[in-house]
Amino acid sequence: MNTKILSVTGKETELIVKVCEYVEILYWGCIINTKSEGAEYSLSRPIPYGRLDTDIPMTLHPELGRGLFSSPALEGHRNGKGWAPVFQTTNVKQGRKELTIYSEDKAAGLQLVTELRLDEFDVIKLRHKLINTADGIYSVNRLANTLPLPERANELLTYYGRWVNEFQQTRMRLTQGGYQQENRRGRTSHEHYPALIAGTQYFNETHGDVWGFHLAWSGNHRMRVDVKADGRRFMQAEAIYLPGEVALEKGDSIATPWLYATHSECGLNKMSQHFHQHVRSNILNNRLTKKARPIHLNTWEGIYFDHNPEYIMDMATESAKMGVERFIIDDGWFKGRCGDKAGLGDWYLDKSKYTKGLEGVIEHVNALGMEFGLWFEPEMINKDSDLYRSHPDWLLAMDNYEQPTGRNQYAIDLQNEDAFNYLFERLDYFLSKYNISYIKWDMNREIVQPGHDGYAAGHKQVEMYYRLVDKLTAKHPDVEIESCAAGGGRIDFEVLKRTHRFWASDNNDALERQQIQRGMSYFFPPEVMGSHIGAKHCHCTRRTHDINFRGLTALFGHMGIELDPVKESETEKQGFMKYIQLHKQLRPLLHSGDAIRLSTDDDAHLAHAVIATAQDKAVVLVAQLSMPTNSLSSTLRIPGLNKDKLYSISLLDYPENFHDIVNLQPLWTKEPVVASGEWLKKAGIAMPILDPESAILIGLKEA
Ligand code: DGJ
Repeated sequence: MNTKILSVTGKETELIVKVCEYVEILYWGCIINTKSEGAEYSLSRPIPYGRLDTDIPMTLHPELGRGLFSSPALEGHRNGKGWAPVFQTTNVKQGRKELTIYSEDKAAGLQLVTELRLDEFDVIKLRHKLINTADGIYSVNRLANTLPLPERANELLTYYGRWVNEFQQTRMRLTQGGYQQENRRGRTSHEHYPALIAGTQYFNETHGDVWGFHLAWSGNHRMRVDVKADGRRFMQAEAIYLPGEVALEKGDSIATPWLYATHSECGLNKMSQHFHQHVRSNILNNRLTKKARPIHLNTWEGIYFDHNPEYIMDMATESAKMGVERFIIDDGWFKGRCGDKAGLGDWYLDKSKYTKGLEGVIEHVNALGMEFGLWFEPEMINKDSDLYRSHPDWLLAMDNYEQPTGRNQYAIDLQNEDAFNYLFERLDYFLSKYNISYIKWDMNREIVQPGHDGYAAGHKQVEMYYRLVDKLTAKHPDVEIESCAAGGGRIDFEVLKRTHRFWASDNNDALERQQIQRGMSYFFPPEVMGSHIGAKHCHCTRRTHDINFRGLTALFGHMGIELDPVKESETEKQGFMKYIQLHKQLRPLLHSGDAIRLSTDDDAHLAHAVIATAQDKAVVLVAQLSMPTNSLSSTLRIPGLNKDKLYSISLLDYPENFHDIVNLQPLWTKEPVVASGEWLKKAGIAMPILDPESAILIGLKEA
């Protein structure tokens, strides 16, 4: 194949790709407008002594057989042979924003199709498909997506977490030895959110080159960023296949999950803009713009398993009075479900609780002008259930082994056709019989030994989960789905293609939520992040927060309330009502504007904003996390506005004692002040003084 130098451009990003017998990205960065013929020769590398005698490219599909001593993109074999394939490009198709590259290794009997797309928001999508073209089984141990990183990417932002503590971030130097994370928990996981960010030293919200990566896969994965001995570096992401799991017969194929990536030359906020726009338009396909995100009332923290339909109807009545738009009955409504030890799998209404059926409750909810939603955990089963008693073989497990339970439950083998059909039939039954417009789809345990007929089935289980959701949504296209897995255990782009929002965390503590939501904001826009006002006394941390902090924290997501409104005081209910109204008023802006994180001079603050795309208005939230470090907290600079426009600044919400805790708060909090976008970015406004665990909301409007 003759060497071709191809350029793929997005809005501001360009990929310069060398296609010859292999494919190498020579450049990934801002568009280069003036290019001379043969400019790529300026990048030809020297060949040092003491290593292989030819230049070894850092290809899109690193191969040991080509002499690249990095983690190869493919590890596999045909009964011990064909284990070091080297693919030769056979064809390239170029669209305006995409390349499809076909290559093959005839000796190994393999074909590879590589799809590389760069969208209008500068987000790259990459995946490889491997096809076995020869007789006999080709066993695939690994198949990875690889993208190069420039040598100046020497710092990483990665994620860690756990139940009730999702999306925690850590920073580290990227140096020889690199970084690797492995998730073997069988779902996207709280612990290893499948994303990371590389950048130039000290990159922050507004400065530095950054490259963000997200692997769209809801199961086991491996992500690594490696620094080769020669200094070159790359990012690699893959689904983990369990032993023997991928065995391709002649003609069979396996594809990697999509790897999403983007570059920003000015920090994290711009990277997030790319991902947010991509999510809105190309992951959600603008599905959420069809109607405003309805305010939820979820029964879980209000009543847990204690279901009494009369009482639930009272809860609905109180919810409607506060302005709630969708009422969701959580766990506890189905047969035998009186606690978390029994019932999963028996997706029949618990007639001992709902003696008059569910219709009356739903009609009541609908008559109050609210939509109705219902909780399911379809992939799970308790041994104490009729389902298990009649189908003990439906477990996703291995004979002769006793696996540990998680929340007293096991997973169902979705490759078992009868089990799959049963689950579909049960879900379909409820969606067909009742006026249910929303499902909260939960998944509360990690997968330990995913066995199907004695074979490993971790990868297939995830694919079958997608298939089950897809089959259901094909039949019930108007039903919305929330992805939940003990809070934020299944949050990724692939799930979002078939769902509408995520339950970000079981932690409803506003202080903790500030950090969790910030972590999530790097890749997801506010409207897909379920964010609820919980009870004053948080069930999860036992902290107490007043309504100002809880309300403003829940405001910047897909908002809801999660408590028992019947038991709440009038004062509390007035508070919920106030923030529901505020959310409804700001919702069009919050769910369509550019969400940015603001840098603050004091780590005791966390500030973020949403700016209308027309740059005519914005809202800014400043949360005071702990005691201010100094008695004065400097200024708050707000980037992202139109530098030439004038904005009037107003304080939209503040804690009750705001004016009493100091001699004087900054003037702008009382008197109307007008400032330009340039002023707000460069000089900013004086920070007020706030008590720990409180927040203010600032409004900016074109004057
Ligand atoms: C875990 C979820 O994260 C909670 O919101 C709730 O739905 C419970 N499961 C119900 O069992």
